[in-house]
Amino acid sequence: MRIDGAVTLVTGGAKGLGLAIASHLHARGAKVIVADLNEAALADLPQGLEPRCFDMTDPDRAVEATRDICTRHGKIDVLVNNAGMIYSEAMINIIRPEQMMHDLGRFRRCITANLDSVFIMTSAVVEQMAMRRTRGVIVNISSISSRGNEGQTAYSAAKAGVNAMTVTWSKEFGRLGIRCNAVAPGFIDTPSTRTALSPSIVKHIEANTPLRRLGQSDDVAKAVASLIDNDFINGVILDVNGGLVI
Ligand SMILES: NC(=O)c1ccc[n+]([C@@H]2O[C@H](COP(=O)([O-])OP(=O)(O)OC[C@H]3O[C@@H](n4cnc5c(N)ncnc54)[C@H](O)[C@@H]3O)[C@@H](O)[C@H]2O)c1
Repeated sequence: MRIDGAVTLVTGGAKGLGLAIASHLHARGAKVIVADLNEAALADLPQGLEPRCFDMTDPDRAVEATRDICTRHGKIDVLVNNAGMIYSEAMINIIRPEQMMHDLGRFRRCITANLDSVFIMTSAVVEQMAMRRTRGVIVNISSISSRGNEGQTAYSAAKAGVNAMTVTWSKEFGRLGIRCNAVAPGFIDTPSTRTALSPSIVKHIEANTPLRRLGQSDDVAKAVASLIDNDFINGVILDVNGGLVI
C-alpha cells in the first residue's frame, strides 16, 4: 500500500509511540487521523494531524467515529492499533500477605485496554473496508511481553492475544485484500517506559540487549511503515527489540 495519500487512523496517537508513528506516516504523505481519549494531548498535536477524541474500548463510539471518518475522507486505508496501557502486577506477591494474589479487576481492566480495544477498532474499520470494497492494512502494536514477561501476567496475556488475532485476521481478511501484521517492540525509550521502569532496570535491559541500548520511537515507526509498504507481508509479528530475548 502506498503510504503517500493513504487515509490512516492511528489509535492512541496523541503521545508516545503512537504520536511518533502518526508523525512518521504524515511526513511520508499519509492523511493521518489521530484517535485518543486524552483531550489535552490531542489539543497539542502537531499541525497536519487530525484529532478525534473517543475511547477505543467503547464499541458504539468506535463504530460512530469510524463511519464519520469514512464519510469525511471516503475510506480508511490503514488502521494502526496502538492504543494500550503498559501494566505490571505480579501473579503472586509474597511480601504483601494482605493481598498476595493478582487483583482480578485490574487484570480485566488491562485486558480491556490492550485486547478489547484492538478487537473493537478492527471490527469497526474492517466493516467499513468490506462494505466499501476497499483494500486495507491493519498494523497492531504488540510487545516483547507477549512472550510472557515476569511481573506482567495481564499485559503479557493481552499482547499474546493481539498476536493471535493478528495471525487469525491475516487469514480471514486476506481474501478481502486486507493485510494484517503486528510490530512487537522491545523496550523503547518513551516516557511510559521511564515511568514504569527504575533506572537500574533500564541499565539491566540495556546490558542484556545485543545492541546495548533501548529502542527509539522512530525505530518502531519505521517498522510500521515497512509493514504498510510491502504488499506481500501478511500475518507477521515483527520484533523490534535490538535482539533482546526475555
Ligand atoms: N513504550 C514502550 O516501550 C512499549 C513497548 C512495547 C509495546 N508498547 C505498546 O505501544 C503502545 C503505546 O505505548 P506508549 O508507551 O506510547 O504508551 P503511552 O501511555 O505513552 O501512550 C498511549 C496513548 O494511548 C491512549 N489510550 C490508551 N488507552 C486508550 C483508549 N482506550 N482509548 C483511546 N486512547 C487510549 C493514551 O491516552 C495515550 O495517549 C501500547 O500499545 C503499548 O503497549 C510500548
